[in-house]
Amino acid sequence: MLKSAKIKVYIPLQIGLIVIMVLLTPAPDVVIRSFTLDDLTELCELVKANRAFLREWLPWADRISDPRDEAPYIEMAMDKESRGEGFEGGIYVRGILAGSIGLHYISEDTRSTEIGYWLAEQYTGSGVMTACARTVLAYCFTEYKLNRVEIRAAGANLKSRAIPERLGFRLEGLLRQFHTLHGKLHDLAIYGMLAHEWKG
Ligand SMILES: CC(C)(COP(=O)(O)OP(=O)(O)OC[C@H]1O[C@@H](n2cnc3c(N)ncnc32)[C@H](O)[C@@H]1OP(=O)(O)O)[C@@H](O)C(=O)NCCC(=O)NCCS
Repeated sequence: MLKSAKIKVYIPLQIGLIVIMVLLTPAPDVVIRSFTLDDLTELCELVKANRAFLREWLPWADRISDPRDEAPYIEMAMDKESRGEGFEGGIYVRGILAGSIGLHYISEDTRSTEIGYWLAEQYTGSGVMTACARTVLAYCFTEYKLNRVEIRAAGANLKSRAIPERLGFRLEGLLRQFHTLHGKLHDLAIYGMLAHEWKG
């Protein structure tokens, strides 16, 4: 069972209005930190070791076999973060990379974003991702001042859907056969939370 952090620490490093580094502490032993190019090897090794677990819902896991395969993703993430349009972070449990969480985009127009996440199998089942998503959600509303946060998951991905459900998101729709995984059509569940619905 994961203990929640008594104090949540938000330390975005900023130049002007641009956030260049996300560093969050969702629980005493858990840190979320933006990926950098120094993380290529550790990230690649974790994905490779968990390919069989991840690939069911994240088909990109099949394409990672060398640290260089992660470079475009991390470069895209650093670029996105430098423009204030989201981030991709590593989840570190007692200092070891355990998974990832991030904001796919930030829409200036609608002040909205979508959270995405995954964990290595050995770190599942203890509330790590719920704690991380709760902290990133708070970050969205308090630091980025967003109005809407979305989480999307395949209809049959009940472990992923349980996270927005635990955090009080509203199920806004189940888009039928709107998601492809390994060549097959799946339903797509869309969860949303608005700033005024967030309980802090
Ligand atoms: C989706 C994913 C991150 C969910 O992981 P998870 O371990 O179930 O989520 P959490 O870390 O929040 O842990 C929740 C589990 O810990 C338990 N738990 C223990 N202490 C807890 C606490 N303090 N708070 C919340 N849950 C706790 C919950 O009961 C739950 O277990 P259960 O599913 O047996 O009921 C993981 O399954 C995964 O990465 N899957 C593959 C990739 C993927 O699907 N990504 C999402 C694509 S949309």
